Amino acid sequence: MSFQIVGTGRSTPALVLTNDMISQIVDTDDEWITSRTGIKSRFISTDETVEDLATEATKRALESAGIDGHEIDLIICSSFHGEYLSPSLSCLIQRNIGASCPAFDINAACTGFVYGLDVADAYFSSGKAETILVIAAEVMTRHIDWSDRSTCVLFGDGAGAVVLKKGKGLKSIKITAKGDDNLLTIGSVFCESPFAKQPKIDPNFRMQGSEVFKFAVTSIIKDVKSVMKEAGITASDVKMLVPHQANSRFFQIVMDKLGFKEDQVALGIDHYGNTSSASIPLMLDELMEEGKLSSGDIIVLTAFGGGLTSGACVIEI
Ligand code: UT7
Repeated sequence: MSFQIVGTGRSTPALVLTNDMISQIVDTDDEWITSRTGIKSRFISTDETVEDLATEATKRALESAGIDGHEIDLIICSSFHGEYLSPSLSCLIQRNIGASCPAFDINAACTGFVYGLDVADAYFSSGKAETILVIAAEVMTRHIDWSDRSTCVLFGDGAGAVVLKKGKGLKSIKITAKGDDNLLTIGSVFCESPFAKQPKIDPNFRMQGSEVFKFAVTSIIKDVKSVMKEAGITASDVKMLVPHQANSRFFQIVMDKLGFKEDQVALGIDHYGNTSSASIPLMLDELMEEGKLSSGDIIVLTAFGGGLTSGACVIEI
């Protein structure tokens, strides 16, 4: 298949919010959050915008790839949204790194990074690009109700980016969608119109957690089995499984059902919380930086989330 990862980068805001700090805001405690989610702390944006985080992560990915912005043929950015609905976040990143290529955003909620890789695969396969940037940047903490303890303890902010070049690293990829506006929603905010008669939708993140949990577990198992089968590999061939970091309890289930050992599963939820689509590229950059991945290693990425969407892929580094 079509691409190789040649650079990674990440950026997180300066403020670290611990579970004890959150327990000053809502009725919760470190014990509940740690045992139910695996989260100990998360980064929270204060004056950093999603554009700042996305640009920083992208510049670091370009630096690690040894590539200039003007060499990029396409920029794909996954995000719920940036400071503006228009211009897109991708267009602002394009300006900030001195690129002149097409740029667009995609929204597949927490699965957005894997969706971005799938779109990149199509561009490489059709011969329309030689070098592509895929970025995921999210400020989830601006989309939550800070009086709702069932959701505000879960999220953090951050951005991750990868530089892709035409190559044979991608072994298999799959994305899915199952339209649903019941289990997980974030409403859009519209301007007032004297004509509008539609009911207002709650702009805060709302989730039926246990139902989404079931969807996530089912999706991970189904998607990972499917992409590993297509790639002709088993769990023992995989250096690291990098799941969307939504709940550490998923990881035990995944290990039991898919045959991965503990040291094969990337764990960053303890210090990032759930950063939606940014969680996989954040982890990838951290694993690269810590020397836990090197050339020739096989990784499996798996994500799931609002939409409902899911996706997985097998990549040789
Ligand atoms: O990235 C997008 C995809 N998202 C996910 O995949 C998330 C999937 N869902 C989950 O990870 C879990 O469902 C949660 C972590 C969100 C919730 O865990 P849970 O074990 O499903 O808890 P629950 O919602 O069933 O709540 C259990 C209890 C409730 O109390 P009662 O009714 O049993 O008395 C809640 O009111 O825990 C209570 N609770 C809390 N207590 C202390 C809920 N939130 C809190 C809290 N602190 N922050």
